[in-house]
Amino acid sequence: MAIIETKELEFDYVTRDEEAKVTEVDRAIDGVSLQIEAGSFVAILGHNGSGKSTLAKTLNGILLPSGGTVLISGMNTADDAKLLDIRREVGMVFQNPDNQIIANLVEDDVGFGPENLGVPTEEIWQRVDAALKAVGMTAFRLKSPNHLSGGQKQRVAIAGVMAMHPKCIVLDEPTAMLDPNGRKEVIRTVTELNRSEGVTVVLITHYMEEVIGADRLVVMDDGKVIMDGTPREVFARVEELKRLRLDVPQATELAYELKQRGVSLPDSVLTMEELAEAILPLWKEN
Ligand SMILES: Nc1ncnc2c1ncn2[C@@H]1O[C@H](COP(=O)(O)OP(=O)(O)OP(=O)(O)O)[C@@H](O)[C@H]1O
Ligand SMILES: [Mg+2]
Repeated sequence: MAIIETKELEFDYVTRDEEAKVTEVDRAIDGVSLQIEAGSFVAILGHNGSGKSTLAKTLNGILLPSGGTVLISGMNTADDAKLLDIRREVGMVFQNPDNQIIANLVEDDVGFGPENLGVPTEEIWQRVDAALKAVGMTAFRLKSPNHLSGGQKQRVAIAGVMAMHPKCIVLDEPTAMLDPNGRKEVIRTVTELNRSEGVTVVLITHYMEEVIGADRLVVMDDGKVIMDGTPREVFARVEELKRLRLDVPQATELAYELKQRGVSLPDSVLTMEELAEAILPLWKEN
């Protein structure tokens, strides 16, 4: 079943002058129809300004459609009465971990969300325990978030969202401000939550290496979805991706360059291991 469904979704940023007269309309989302299956891991790619963050913000009603609809488990985000349930169902994690941390202790920070939802105290602590364990941050529960690394802060932010028991987490460039180790930590954590807890993951990122393991890639350009498929299907279209100013994983790039020079390799290589496997027999022939 689809947990997220957008139908002909449109979103306009409207600029007005002092007299509230519309001076500019910028269409950021332009007719997006997407169904995201419960339990899947979907990555959204696209160059700057293609509409990824705008799309993310429509998924839990931070932004309401200018046209079309967004349904979360069948609930319409435009329905005021459903908004709280929708926000319980879809948690958001943003780029800057510092803006998402509110309390002076890691455990209080993680408990803040469920407390706001009116969860009984005893259950809050059970949820905090479970969420910290799920992101591998139990040892830090009595520490101040200020003393954590970027990757650790982001894992605390993810635990805070998990403690609200969402069915889906939407992460908008959660690794953009992290070093390579922090990036790995966060992606490993999110992948684990998807696999072991069945949480639906929607990951927006500019790092192609982070999406190789996704079930599905959705590529946006100018407010529209222009590619939608498995990583292998999408990364087989290297030239189109380059035209869209997008990268491909390193191994895909290398395989593409080798093919251009006449080396016979499969159409879409995603990892260095695959590339090595594909090259080895050619090497032995010579
Ligand atoms: N608050 C705003 N007011 C007016 N226009 C906006 C606003 N936020 C975004 N836009 C415009 O909407 C379009 C989509 O922006 P959005 O931030 O959704 O893109 P994005 O894919 O997330 O980009 P990035 O990769 O840089 O994060 C762009 O043309 C952008 O200029
Ligand atoms: Mg963005």
